[in-house]
Amino acid sequence: VTRPPDSINFDNAAEYYDSTRSLPPEVAERLTQMLLPELEGRGPCLEIGVGTGRVALPLAQRGVDIRGIDISTAMLARLREKAAALGVAVPAEIGDASRLDFADNTFGSAIACHVFHLLRDWASAVRELVRVVRPGGVVLVEADSYGGLRSRFRDRVSEIVGDDLVSPDRIDTDQVELLLLELGATVRRLPPIRWQRQRTVRGALEELGSNQWSMTWSIAEALPAVVEQLTREELEARGDIDAPIVEEQAVSWRAYDLAPT
Ligand SMILES: C[S@@+](CC[C@H](N)C(=O)[O-])C[C@H]1O[C@@H](n2cnc3c(N)ncnc32)[C@H](O)[C@@H]1O
Repeated sequence: VTRPPDSINFDNAAEYYDSTRSLPPEVAERLTQMLLPELEGRGPCLEIGVGTGRVALPLAQRGVDIRGIDISTAMLARLREKAAALGVAVPAEIGDASRLDFADNTFGSAIACHVFHLLRDWASAVRELVRVVRPGGVVLVEADSYGGLRSRFRDRVSEIVGDDLVSPDRIDTDQVELLLLELGATVRRLPPIRWQRQRTVRGALEELGSNQWSMTWSIAEALPAVVEQLTREELEARGDIDAPIVEEQAVSWRAYDLAPT
């Protein structure tokens, strides 16, 4: 049995990341508008696992002084290309979220979007954020919460293959929250951003089978059989998997206010 990696690098996903993860433009705009007032006037912001800048770039365009770190060279290369095309700067370096190369109290805020579940040592990453963000600063965390078929499939795939195969050491936002509260933060749940999308169940199953979601990377070999089983189950339950259905989608964020000194 090979030990699962300490963190999941997105080098192989850089090419298709934006086309598979982008929010609909109006949803992305609502997200930017929700995060902006949390960040404005606080000085520099750090996004750990900044990736291609899906979250950071629109904030930089609105004047947030945001920089990022990521372990993936390819994701950061995409970020740099996109920043250059937009004429904005998001300084970004290779770095590990669980061992940040910044002095204490360097930032006024930080963002962690879809990253804690990829780290074995997520607790160190949480502690590092609290160290590099100054007292009284804010840490914004996305609580992975798409809903719809993707969430259903994730749960079902976990059941079929065994939870630990899908994402070793997977943690959820509640565990991150417990640690942040222990470290003196207080939490505000930001209002979920909801929208609907239309697609067929077959389309969603094909997406799952394309192995573009990190939750399936560790079970690549088993994936075709798992998708076959899910396809049978969905056909049995629904009769038709080619009719468009409406999926309720949501992204939820939590703001953690760090204790003032
Ligand atoms: C799902 S992507 C999210 C990217 C961006 N935050 C967004 O929301 O679009 C996760 C990113 O975290 C990076 N990552 C994984 N482990 C990391 C670590 N230990 N330190 C820093 N970044 C890491 C991956 O390379 C990838 O770019």
